[in-house]
Amino acid sequence: MAEFRLPPMSRPEKGKEWAAESGSNTRTLTVYRWSPPEDGATAARPRLDKFTVDLSKIGTMVLDALIHIKNTMDPSLTFRRSCREGVCGSCAMNINGTNKLACTQALSELKGEIRVLPLPHMRVVKDLVPDLQNAYKQYNEVRPWLRSEKPAGERERLQSPEEREKLDGLWECILCFSCSTSCPSYWWNDDKYLGPATLLQTARWVEDSRDDDTEARLAALDDDFKLYRCHTIMNCTRTCPKGLNPAKAIAGLKSRLAEQNRRS
Ligand code: SF4
Ligand code: FES
Repeated sequence: MAEFRLPPMSRPEKGKEWAAESGSNTRTLTVYRWSPPEDGATAARPRLDKFTVDLSKIGTMVLDALIHIKNTMDPSLTFRRSCREGVCGSCAMNINGTNKLACTQALSELKGEIRVLPLPHMRVVKDLVPDLQNAYKQYNEVRPWLRSEKPAGERERLQSPEEREKLDGLWECILCFSCSTSCPSYWWNDDKYLGPATLLQTARWVEDSRDDDTEARLAALDDDFKLYRCHTIMNCTRTCPKGLNPAKAIAGLKSRLAEQNRRS
């Protein structure tokens, strides 16, 4: 029988309950903690620490709470963040069961105790930092840049408004990987299936009228896994914090590849 539970050493145990801040308006966050073992030591199990913060001391978002915890309670708490406005994609994490950007997730929109875990399925580097090496390797594999033999002119390469419009819903992707890490197909086959984020980025170049390598881009997806391992589960579209639709982009790639194969 398939085993779907995490191995015992990966299951989080109850962690430390940090001294609560006082105030009339507080919230408790349960935060995943794990550190790699020191040289020669045995890895410890991950744990869930509890922090209660006074909302009058912080901004409105989950990221504000995490920064406050790091600054005033536990400086070893580790997470990624940069822009603090939903642009860089670095603060993606699992908040109350859904992949979100911590910097755009309002505390007031979350009910009860707030549970903050790293993005699902990925190896953990430390605390809330997932290992994205494989995801970036796959992104690099699709060669996500303009491919054209035409020499660069004196001006930029122009598009009609209609051609430009085809990129809407694609260019806005910030590569947070919330979609890929919410996808069961990607969980089971991340070595072979490219996942929604990289496929949406592929669609972004396939749809670009200035790119001349569409045929090769599509042909590179033509095996059992890279594209076709998408089973239209739709978790990607449900979770995307930018409101994009990776499932639609993937369907578009499948349709264009089928058309290309039919013609050849
Ligand atoms: S499609 Fe959405 S969820 Fe996926 S990487 Fe891009 S912004 Fe993030
Ligand atoms: S910090 Fe840049 S998207 Fe959240």
